[in-house]
Amino acid sequence: MMPVSLQEKWNAIYSGGLSRSLAPSRVLLENTHLLPGSGMALDLACGLGGNALLMAERGLAAHAWDISDIALHALEKQACGRGLEINTRQCDVECGDLPQESFDVLVVSHFLCRALAPRIVSALKPGGLLFYQTYTTEKLAEEGPRNPDYLLKPGELISLFSALRPLYYREDGIVGDLSLGWRNEAALVGIKSQIT
Ligand SMILES: C[S@@+](CC[C@H](N)C(=O)[O-])C[C@H]1O[C@@H](n2cnc3c(N)ncnc32)[C@H](O)[C@@H]1O
Repeated sequence: MMPVSLQEKWNAIYSGGLSRSLAPSRVLLENTHLLPGSGMALDLACGLGGNALLMAERGLAAHAWDISDIALHALEKQACGRGLEINTRQCDVECGDLPQESFDVLVVSHFLCRALAPRIVSALKPGGLLFYQTYTTEKLAEEGPRNPDYLLKPGELISLFSALRPLYYREDGIVGDLSLGWRNEAALVGIKSQIT
């Protein structure tokens, strides 16, 4: 059997119907007050682009990159229906460089490639913000990947982005009343220093 490429894998997921979420990530929804009123924003590994749609609605020049052209076409249709402009790019974000000091805001949700962390930091302009949210090894729910390579270890998100000043960090882990709180994921908003 021919090996399935990453693009084919994700295209198959998205062509199975748009059951995946169009909702922006919680880290962005809970911290929209931190967004600048204008500037360049990137939703990296955007999927259906809920984060990009929110940022375009907030007046940012929104860019959305993903390996799945099917997800990107669905996003373009959504954006068009809402009268928004989103610059989509089909690419493998694990290969190739991110443009340096280019984005005022960068959002990553439900995607983890540890090797990208330094490139993400360098893609932020001085004073730029990173919103990051993804699943942890302590997740209780079925949702999210099972492969630990794609799960954050306890406390890992904040150390991956230790080059940024944290403005917000949330990781309830498995502490206390597990029926309450924000479980399954870790979330960070970090700001890059103005001085480089
Ligand atoms: C779990 S989905 C998350 C989508 C969206 N960020 C969200 O939170 O709903 C992971 C996304 O990463 C994309 N992806 C996976 N590997 C990628 C790569 N190497 N380059 C670009 N996109 C990739 C997939 O196509 C998919 O849309």
